[in-house]
Amino acid sequence: MLKAGVVGWPVSHSLSPRLHSYWLETYGIAGEYIPYPVTAVGLPAFIAGLRNSDISGVNLTIPHKETVIALLDEVDEIAASIGAVNTVVVRDGKLYGSNTDLYGFTENIFPHVKATGKAVVLGAGGAAKSVCRALQNMGFARIVVLNRTEDRAQAMISELKGEGLATQRWQERSIALGGADLLVNTTSLGLKNSDALDIDLSSLPKNALVTDIVYNPLITPLLAQAQLRGNPTVDGLGMLMYQAVPGFEAWFGVRPEVTAELKAHLLEKIS
Ligand code: ATR
Repeated sequence: MLKAGVVGWPVSHSLSPRLHSYWLETYGIAGEYIPYPVTAVGLPAFIAGLRNSDISGVNLTIPHKETVIALLDEVDEIAASIGAVNTVVVRDGKLYGSNTDLYGFTENIFPHVKATGKAVVLGAGGAAKSVCRALQNMGFARIVVLNRTEDRAQAMISELKGEGLATQRWQERSIALGGADLLVNTTSLGLKNSDALDIDLSSLPKNALVTDIVYNPLITPLLAQAQLRGNPTVDGLGMLMYQAVPGFEAWFGVRPEVTAELKAHLLEKIS
């Protein structure tokens, strides 16, 4: 019986067990994917314990993506440059870390990206760095980051390096949209039971793509507002599904497919 799971605190709300279990069943694999509730204090012992366990690997979620790095033997280039690991593979007693959030974000939106001039990114938290690095890789000429706490946006773009990165004040978020080809919300605004993102989209070109990494609700107030004025949109659930693909393949030996049926299966737990 192959085993993997997700390590977090709290972990009970994670959709990853539902996602991986769906693939295990679809591909007829004798395996299980378990939620592991582990606190920050408990993380070193838990991760060390993976070396000689029957667990093939784990996903990391809040609050462990950064702190896990020091506990691993090797971290791939993308994860090292972002400073966050969400996937660990155990091989011959060694622990290998990678970051598949960037891959997940890219797979989700790249087929819908028609122009790579200017991108506007809202937020500079944990997820924003993967998003900005992905946009750099996609070839965006300008990436403008706006965050409520301006210092955080500044620090993030300094770490990311590269040309075309800039910050603008959070208060300017509505006017910053002029000439944009893409708008990405990486803040938690719009999440169920939290405030909606307060933004006026009238400066945003009508053909600009709008995406949100919040997927609960699937159609966030931002996406609804964008759809109403005719902008193309991509919801955030695809990122969750695609980021899971490399881990599943490494642990269970089959490269799984992201399908409409999988999305419907996850949506049963969302709305
Ligand atoms: P995560 O790791 O999930 O990205 P995070 O690091 O706490 O979580 O980041 C949350 C993001 O949402 C941040 O960009 C945060 O802005 P600050 O850096 O100023 O905290 C943003 N955010 C959360 N609540 C917000 C609010 N009420 N208004 C504006 N931005 C908010």
